[in-house]
Amino acid sequence: MKISVKVPATTANLGPGFDCLGMALPLYNIITIEETVLPGTGIEINVIDKSETSDELMIDHMPMDENSIIYKAVELLYNSIGQTPSELKITVQSQIPIARGLGSSASVIVGGLLAANELLGHPADVVALLSIATEVEGHPDNVTPAIVGGLVLTSQEEDGSIIYRKLNWPEEWNITICIPDYELSTEISRSVLPKEVPLEDAVFNAKRLAMFIEAVNTKDDALMKLALQDKLHQPYRMKLVPGLDRIIENLKHEEDVLGCVLSGAGPGIVVISKKNNLDKIKSIIKDTWEDINVKVNITTLPVETKGAQILTD
Ligand code: HSE
Repeated sequence: MKISVKVPATTANLGPGFDCLGMALPLYNIITIEETVLPGTGIEINVIDKSETSDELMIDHMPMDENSIIYKAVELLYNSIGQTPSELKITVQSQIPIARGLGSSASVIVGGLLAANELLGHPADVVALLSIATEVEGHPDNVTPAIVGGLVLTSQEEDGSIIYRKLNWPEEWNITICIPDYELSTEISRSVLPKEVPLEDAVFNAKRLAMFIEAVNTKDDALMKLALQDKLHQPYRMKLVPGLDRIIENLKHEEDVLGCVLSGAGPGIVVISKKNNLDKIKSIIKDTWEDINVKVNITTLPVETKGAQILTD
């Protein structure tokens, strides 16, 4: 039996929502799992690059054996029902650029889990799948929108369970994704974060996150402009994303820009703006990064409201 799952890209954090806000975007990885009939063939993992800008490094980054995050996720699901995966062929057709802050690892974890769950006859519900996916990924803000779609507020509780709520992104606001031509692993990007933060910074983010939710619910431009700020992760990560401080500064004077934030752990960035003046915004980003020899791919995308889908032939 062979199952394929189409999983969207995701952007996480969205400024103040470190590790708890995420949004699905219409770029996809397709993950296929096939039970092979020959006993003893073991695990085989293949990656096929379907991205627009062919990313040769991508294939090197993805372990192709039992150390793969896909295999780990699949194994946890099998173990949860007292089984062990044996002969599996896993294929990833990848359109989501790796290590750019667009949830490529979350997408393969989610795709592997959903395909295995289908093969096993649905032993796990969405909440159980979210818990396993978060255990492998380490935080829930990419895997949750990858599974359920849309913009979500998500939390991993102390017992490991995941609570999430969907929010409605206002159609009036554009999401422009800017992907520089270099990689930054989430591991490195998390390694620069402090273990403790000043109380006033924690309060700053609590206020911004509350503003974010109210701004989204009431489509309040002015409140969103205040909300799209952060003191928990972006200040520490600035040094890993040269040019980001200048882009934020240069966009500040653009009336239509509501905010410019890191996409997940970076190095991609997301600009939220009102629905016009996009050319000007794009050229500011392009010029600022090109000044320091960074090439950038810029694209404006809608929210993907659907989460991962099982593909039927
Ligand atoms: N919330 C995570 C981080 C997202 O910022 O490290 C990683 O994609």
